[in-house]
Amino acid sequence: MEWTKEARYRELEDVTKEELTALEKIVNECPWRQTYHIQPITGLLNDPNGFSYYNGEYHLFYQWFPLGPVHGLKHWYHTKSKDLVHWENIGVAIKPSNQFDSHGVYSGSAIEHEGNLFLIYTGNTRNEKWERFPYQCLAVMDQNGKVTKMDKPIVNEVPKGYTDHFRDPKVWKQDGHYYAIIGAQKESGTGCVVLYRSSDLKEWIFAGEIDTGLKDFGYMWECPDYFELGGQGILLFSPQGLESKGDHFQNIYQSGYVIGSPIDLQKKQLIHGEFQELDRGFDFYAPQTMNDPQGRRILVGWMGLPEIDYPTDRNGWAHCLTLPRELLVREGKLYQKPVKELENLRGEKSEAEITVKNEFVSINGFSGEAYELFAEFSEITAQEFGIEVRVGEHEKTIIKYDSNEKKVIFDRSHSGQSVGKDFGDIRKCRLDAKTVTFQVFVDISSVEVFVNNGEEVLTGRIFPQQNSRGIQFFAVGGQTNLKAMKWNIL
Ligand code: FRU
Repeated sequence: MEWTKEARYRELEDVTKEELTALEKIVNECPWRQTYHIQPITGLLNDPNGFSYYNGEYHLFYQWFPLGPVHGLKHWYHTKSKDLVHWENIGVAIKPSNQFDSHGVYSGSAIEHEGNLFLIYTGNTRNEKWERFPYQCLAVMDQNGKVTKMDKPIVNEVPKGYTDHFRDPKVWKQDGHYYAIIGAQKESGTGCVVLYRSSDLKEWIFAGEIDTGLKDFGYMWECPDYFELGGQGILLFSPQGLESKGDHFQNIYQSGYVIGSPIDLQKKQLIHGEFQELDRGFDFYAPQTMNDPQGRRILVGWMGLPEIDYPTDRNGWAHCLTLPRELLVREGKLYQKPVKELENLRGEKSEAEITVKNEFVSINGFSGEAYELFAEFSEITAQEFGIEVRVGEHEKTIIKYDSNEKKVIFDRSHSGQSVGKDFGDIRKCRLDAKTVTFQVFVDISSVEVFVNNGEEVLTGRIFPQQNSRGIQFFAVGGQTNLKAMKWNIL
């Protein structure tokens, strides 16, 4: 079907039950539905929103266009979980309904206040000339999950000097005050973040732009997030418009962070090192973090990117969220580890300990479509070694290490139906290590690789045939010891 403006901005109320059921049927016939990732029942999912712990449960909302695999009228869809692993679909939490969010309930965040969960988001509106007017809005969710929108926006205009690309508030509490950062574009056409301050989450004061020293770093910064961890200040954001540089910035848009001393909220200044990408794979954008009751900083990202077609589009849906990752700071760098609770998914186990020498080997019990795989390579003399997953007659997805280049390589050039070909189908990142471990989460249409305890992470959607279920281990130009463990999931 053709996605006209009318089709993209149709209200959910105007859609019949039959139409939705028919949509769901097509979606459920898709061979690439995931089994343990958050994915939309129909339509398109993008950014994670309002990630929080409230009333004894984790809450994770996401950007949702229900009617097809395109960007249209966005809602906040609500999911919740007791363990970060088993998620329950709750339904639409915030829908576009008034003059402050008529063209989309855009991204934002959540914070607990006076027994309720405050949801702060960007209301996207457009006039007849299709000019955009963003508002920052507040909705309050009570203990019964009932969401009530406030009558008026909490920020009703874009401050002077910025364009209508002004969105995605992330709120936090510090020293008895509330702060929010918003992703913005300056009139000069460069991206930045601005700071707001509040004492009650309802009245907000524009405090000004944050001086990050990054004066010309892309044309828009989407979905900013700020937090402190290990005594450091960390600003996450998703800059658009960076040119690729060697192995870096290979995707259409990037997502990463700067880390340094904690933000100076008076001076609105953040002194930090270089921008580092969070994920060195293919499909990762607009992540959001939360602090949980155990004191962990946990991140979830959108496993997708804007403006790229995916093979699931044909079945009326697109994208999923990444698995939750715990963040840790080590030597000026964020390490990302799959949250411990993911062990709850582990089913039947296979294990092996062998030497792999100038060969490709498959091991009994090592195959499947949805599983966790852990492989440790040590005593390495091989020039190249690694794993192939979802191997079929003509398909394979390769995760390997090149000892000469000292690089981890993720190759999806033979993974099945292609995606984002214009941006290449190989990703590489540097890793200097004597022992290499890959902890890999494979689902029906995705691979998430955590390298050496989360020093690097590489994420990618793949679209292989159902019967491509093989796993192979290999070493070329020498040998390596291999310790491997695999757990079926579901
Ligand atoms: C990032 C983004 C946000 C915006 C949302 C709209 O993917 O463009 O900046 O709030 O998606 O769906």
